[in-house]
Amino acid sequence: MSAEPIKRSKALLPLSREHHVDLLLAWKIRKGLNNHTEHRRMADYVRYLEENLMDGHFSDEEKLLFDLLPQEDEMCTHARNDHKQIRYLIAEICERKKDDNHLFRELSDLVEAHVRYEERELFPYLETKLSFEKLEEMEKILSAKHDVFNDTWQDTFWIE
Ligand SMILES: [Fe+2]
Ligand SMILES: [Fe+2]
Repeated sequence: MSAEPIKRSKALLPLSREHHVDLLLAWKIRKGLNNHTEHRRMADYVRYLEENLMDGHFSDEEKLLFDLLPQEDEMCTHARNDHKQIRYLIAEICERKKDDNHLFRELSDLVEAHVRYEERELFPYLETKLSFEKLEEMEKILSAKHDVFNDTWQDTFWIE
């Protein structure tokens, strides 16, 4: 029996672990909207997660993984477009300070849909497209760069 399938599923694990934080973010935003949290408090948390987790996560997915496939690859293009849209929504909320429930709802829906897409479709696809050696190399790089995320945010608006 080959150990290869176990290895393959491990390679992208550091990124999958961060997806859990993204899913929590979507849940926290919804909670915040339900309990009428001031938008600025939610926006500050979104900015914190973007700077400390999402930005590096997105750019490593793009540069270390998606760039290994041809530029016209549709599965990767889908994910790049999601990243672009998520970044745009965060900029609307945090930089241009648009104060709109709809933007927060859109962001939480898209973050959740994007994580589901990567976990269910894109990552299994990448695992078949990339060579075993490449995945092994990625496992080393990703686990060195993406340690378990320690969320130190104090303003827990989602449990009020
Ligand atoms: Fe991801
Ligand atoms: Fe992604």
